[in-house]
Amino acid sequence: MGSKTFLKMSVSMSANFLRKRDENTVATVDEVIRARRTEKILANDDFDWQPSKEDLSTGDRAVESALDVARWAPFHYPRDLQQQVEPWTVRWLRRDACLTFASKMPEWHGQLAAGHKFPKLFRACGSCVIVSWLPNTEMHPEKKRLQVNEEHLAATAAFVQNFLIALEARNLGSYWASGPVVLEGGIPDRLGLQDKEKVTAVVFVHYRGSTPDVGLDRLEGKLRKSRDPEMGWLKAVEFGE
Ligand SMILES: Cc1cc2nc3c(=O)[nH]c(=O)nc-3n(C[C@H](O)[C@H](O)[C@H](O)COP(=O)(O)O)c2cc1C
Repeated sequence: MGSKTFLKMSVSMSANFLRKRDENTVATVDEVIRARRTEKILANDDFDWQPSKEDLSTGDRAVESALDVARWAPFHYPRDLQQQVEPWTVRWLRRDACLTFASKMPEWHGQLAAGHKFPKLFRACGSCVIVSWLPNTEMHPEKKRLQVNEEHLAATAAFVQNFLIALEARNLGSYWASGPVVLEGGIPDRLGLQDKEKVTAVVFVHYRGSTPDVGLDRLEGKLRKSRDPEMGWLKAVEFGE
């Protein structure tokens, strides 16, 4: 069965039993998922802008509520039943912290390449959310430990995607960077990252509409246009009699 057959099937079935949600909800969720896209926004050297206090607090409140809904992402194993069940940890750098981070990064890092994109991204965003997880290092046997850690990562990625969708629904732009640079030099210490902690996403959040057009470079995700429009990755599994 090809992907087109799948689509036809779901459309004709909806007349019968896919009626638990009204069609507007489905259309809105679909639209927001499609509208989310990478917005890489970098400040030039002469970029000198501050959002108004009101814009900043409106944006911050929207980020907080997006985090609050993102936490409904699924997870299979508890990180730690006594202290924290969810596998993910979130650090939020609001605008002031982003500006400090941008200016201190070269010093804290120690060997940051000249012209590195991170200080430019930190200067241009409304705020930045760093999502990480802590691998289990003690569980035995090793096979089980590897599985648990893979699932911690998968759950953390589900949290990140929920967050991006929730941001888009609030008309906030985002860029998911993997950001290995935040694990280098003296930066983990400054961010309070533990030795074994893994960073899954550095999400730069844009308070769209409050940012000026000048002094910024705007780039899209490198692979945005490379998606397969025919869903070639979909394999129907069927068994004979
Ligand atoms: C786990 C993960 C890590 C990513 N890291 C980076 C990154 O470090 N730099 C970057 O430019 N884009 C990064 N991206 C964004 C992708 O490049 C982007 O999603 C892709 O080009 C598709 O574009 P779209 O998000 O606009 O659909 C990352 C995406 C994911 C899921």
